[in-house]
Amino acid sequence: MKRTLLLTALNLCVAAPAFADLAMATSKNCMSCHAVERKVLGPSFKEIAAKYKDDKAATDRLAAKIIKGGSGVWGPLSMPANPQVSEADAKKLAAWVLTAK
Ligand code: HEC
Repeated sequence: MKRTLLLTALNLCVAAPAFADLAMATSKNCMSCHAVERKVLGPSFKEIAAKYKDDKAATDRLAAKIIKGGSGVWGPLSMPANPQVSEADAKKLAAWVLTAK
C-alpha cells in the first residue's frame, strides 16, 4: 500500500509540466545574447517582462518569435531563428522570460 502511494507520487512528479528556467535558456543558447538583468545583444529579460506585463497574448507571440526570429521591436538588431527550440519549449521559455523581475 505504502509502495503504491509512493509510486503514484513519483508518477505525478514526472507528469507535471516542466518549467523553463535559466538552465534551459542557457542550454538553448539564449544567454549568449540575453541576460536577465542587462542588455547584451538582445534586450534583458526584465525589460521584456516589463514591456509585455499587461499583454495576455504575449506568451504565444514571443514563443513564435523565439523560434522564427525577428526584428524591429527593440532596435536595429534582429534575433536569428532558433530552430533548435521546440514549440513546447519556446512557450515555456516565453512564459519564463515574462516572469523576470
Ligand atoms: C544571436 C543573438 C540572440 C539569440 C541567440 C537569442 N536572441 Fe532573443 N533577441 C535578440 C535580439 C537582437 C532581440 C531584439 C529583436 C527585436 O528588436 O525585435 C531579441 C528579442 C527577444 C525577445 C523579445 C521579442 C519581442 O518581440 O519583444 C525574446 C522574448 C527573446 N529574444 C527570447 C530569446 C530566447 C528565449 C532565446 C533562446 C532560445 C533567444 N532570445 C536567443 C537576440 C538573440
